[in-house]
Amino acid sequence: MVVSLVAPRLIMMGGGAVAKLGEALAQLGLSRPLVVTDPFMVSSGLVERALGPLRAAGMVVAVFSETVPDPTDTVIEAGVTVFRAGDFDCLVGFGGGSPMDTAKAIAILAAAPTATHIRAFKVPAQANIAAVPVICVPTTAGTGAEATRFTVITDTERGEKMLIAGLGALPLAAVVDYELTLGLPPRITADTGIDSLTHALEAFVSARANPVSDDYARSAMRLIAPNLRRVWADPANATAREAMMRGATLAGLAFSNASVALVHGMSRPVGAHFHVPHGLSNAMLLPAVTAFGLEAGRARYAEAARIIGVAQEEDADQAAAARLVAELHALNHDLAVPTPAGWGIDAAKWEALLPTMAAQALASGSPANNPRVPDAGQIVALYREAFDG
Ligand SMILES: [Fe+2]
Repeated sequence: MVVSLVAPRLIMMGGGAVAKLGEALAQLGLSRPLVVTDPFMVSSGLVERALGPLRAAGMVVAVFSETVPDPTDTVIEAGVTVFRAGDFDCLVGFGGGSPMDTAKAIAILAAAPTATHIRAFKVPAQANIAAVPVICVPTTAGTGAEATRFTVITDTERGEKMLIAGLGALPLAAVVDYELTLGLPPRITADTGIDSLTHALEAFVSARANPVSDDYARSAMRLIAPNLRRVWADPANATAREAMMRGATLAGLAFSNASVALVHGMSRPVGAHFHVPHGLSNAMLLPAVTAFGLEAGRARYAEAARIIGVAQEEDADQAAAARLVAELHALNHDLAVPTPAGWGIDAAKWEALLPTMAAQALASGSPANNPRVPDAGQIVALYREAFDG
C-alpha cells in the first residue's frame, strides 16, 4: 500500500506562536503578504495580533477584510481583484474557517485565467495550483483548515456549498496559537470544537483512512473529547484551550489525508440553504448519521468510543459502539446544540429542500467514504430524523 500524505511545510504551534508570524514568512522567503480576514477581526482589534508581528518584521501589510461566514464566490472574486491589483507574494488567512477558506480560494482562482469562476474547481476537479502560497493562522479550534487541502465556497447562483480539493488549497505554513481562542464565546467554542471532533471521527471511519491518518485521528480524539465540555464551561481554561487547538490541527491533518464522510456531506447543504454555522449543522446530524453507519463501521466506532473514554477495553464492540452514539447525544445536550427545528428552521421549507440537499450531499463525494454508503432516499430519511431530534 502506497499512502500519499499531505501537510503544510511548516507548522508553528503553541502559546504565543502568532508573534513569530513574520519570522515564519521570512523563513519561507516571503515578504509581501495580503492578510485575508473578516470585519470582526478588524473591529475587535484581534487582527493586530497578526499585523503587529508582520510589521515588526519590516513588511508592508495590506488587509482584505471582506470575508463573510460561509464564504461566497462573489467575495472570492472581490479578493482576487484586490490581489491582482497589488504586488503580493503570499496570502495570510487570519480568523476562523471562513477567512482561511477565503484565502485559499483566492489563491486558487488567481492562478486561473481571468474569466474562470471558482466553481470550475469544485470536486471532482483538482485544484492543485495556487497563484501564491497561503499561510493560515486559525483563531478557533476549529475547522483545521490550516492543515487541510480543502476549501468550501458557496456558489451564490446555485445555492450550493462547493467542496474544492487539491494541493492549491493546502497552506504552505500554519501558525497555531491557542491564545487566540481564549476570548471565544461558549457557543462558537462548542460549534467549532464539535466540528473538530467530527473531523477526527469521520477520518477514522472513512473508507479512505490509512495508518497515518488513523494516528492523527486517534491523537485528535484523545485531545478533543475530554476538553470539549471544559472549554464550554470555562472558556479561559488555557490548558483545555491548548489541547483543543492541537486536537483541531491534528484532526485537520487526519481528514486532509482520509477525507470526511456522510456528516460533512449532509452538513454542507444545511449550511448553504439555512445558514446554520458549520460546526452546529455537523452536531445536529452527528448522532443520527453515526447510528446509521454503526453496524457497518462497528469496530472503528467501538475503538473511537474507547479512545474518547466512554467505553472500556473489555467492552464488546457492539456495546462500545452503542455508547459512542449515546455520548454524541449527551454531548449535544450538554453543549446546548439545538435540532434544526429548535434552531428555527421552517418544517415545510426543510421538507421541500430535502431532495435537493440529498442530491448535493451525494454530489460532494463525501457520503461515499462512509462505512455505510447511503442512497438519496436514506439521506432524506436521515435529514427527517435529525430535524426535530
Ligand atoms: Fe468541518
